[in-house]
Amino acid sequence: MESLISLVNKIQRACTALGDHGEGSSLPTLWDSLPAIAVVGGQSSGKSSVLESVVGKDFLPRGAGIVTRRPLVLQLHRIDEGKEYAEFMHLPKKKFSDFAAVRQEISDETDRETGRSSKVISTVPIHLSIFSPNVVNLTLVDLPGLTKVAVDGQPESIVQDIENMVRSFIEKPNCIILAISPANQDLATSDAIKISREVDPKGDRTFGVLTKIDLMDQGTNAVDILEGRGYKLRYPWVGVVNRSQADINKSVDMIAARRRERDYFNTTPEYRHLTERMGSEYLGKMLSKHLEVVIKSRIPGLQSLITKTISELETELSRLGKPVAADAGGKLYMIMEICRAFDQTFKEHLDGTRSGGEKI
Ligand code: GDP
Ligand code: NA
Ligand code: MG
Repeated sequence: MESLISLVNKIQRACTALGDHGEGSSLPTLWDSLPAIAVVGGQSSGKSSVLESVVGKDFLPRGAGIVTRRPLVLQLHRIDEGKEYAEFMHLPKKKFSDFAAVRQEISDETDRETGRSSKVISTVPIHLSIFSPNVVNLTLVDLPGLTKVAVDGQPESIVQDIENMVRSFIEKPNCIILAISPANQDLATSDAIKISREVDPKGDRTFGVLTKIDLMDQGTNAVDILEGRGYKLRYPWVGVVNRSQADINKSVDMIAARRRERDYFNTTPEYRHLTERMGSEYLGKMLSKHLEVVIKSRIPGLQSLITKTISELETELSRLGKPVAADAGGKLYMIMEICRAFDQTFKEHLDGTRSGGEKI
């Protein structure tokens, strides 16, 4: 029996694979109704680092300046056993088991799109799926960082272009926002908080993540914020310690980095009492649980949308005629099967015949 989140993952993938064929149907609405988690924040606030730590793998380009220049839609699929691998939507038949090659492909694919239009950023997403026994089921979106000024021959429009792109993702009510703010800067100036407050004034779908706690000035700490006194969000802030640039240059691996992060919160006197709800591992599990709750609360709405989609697909398939050998027909058929599986799982959840939640 599949979990709700992995079904949502599948349907999102199928909707994306279907691309233009879905136009005019309920599919785009369906895609927009499925929850995903996006990271927002200023440039170099640690967005890509947070995503990597949640995934527990090195695979994203990171560093100073605008490294992330296209949205990256990242779907994590938990598999029971076997070797982990990654797949890009634009390279459907290729399985990547080398994650350094994944990073290279993200970088190359970014250049392909931005190079062609000779733009610095592009709104066309890269879709990447990771299949692993070590991940929680999640859909995450990495976005370019917000900036204040254009530098190094960047077009003047860059500041606004990035902001518009970020807003187009996070203004959707189904988007869960990870507002990434570095602890070594004043929260009052946090780009992440500013833009998330704009699109989600009540903070119903915003999670604050405080990065770079290890880089705070001597004699200062983040306890006030982490305990909800500094800048209160509806959900408690989660503090993380990602790898520094020096760690990255020295190729400190993820396992060592996570251990060090845990040790940091366990052994720093100010944070020891908060250690249970700090760090990237906790963040990943908490988000997966939250996603499951959100999906459950939306079952009735999603179910009627899916019923509508199935009947539209049935009509479309009978119009195409059977057998459906054509590519479009094959894809439609695939998505209909997934919708049916969805429908079935929903019914089971509603009947209460299945008590288990997402395993984490
Ligand atoms: P992004 O631009 O927001 O995606 O930020 P990156 O993840 O690329 O990180 C920018 C830089 O900050 C990199 O050199 C990271 O190594 C560094 N960095 C990110 N988070 C932390 C942290 O928690 N502690 C330290 N010391 N460095 C960090
Ligand atoms: Na960066
Ligand atoms: Mg980045």
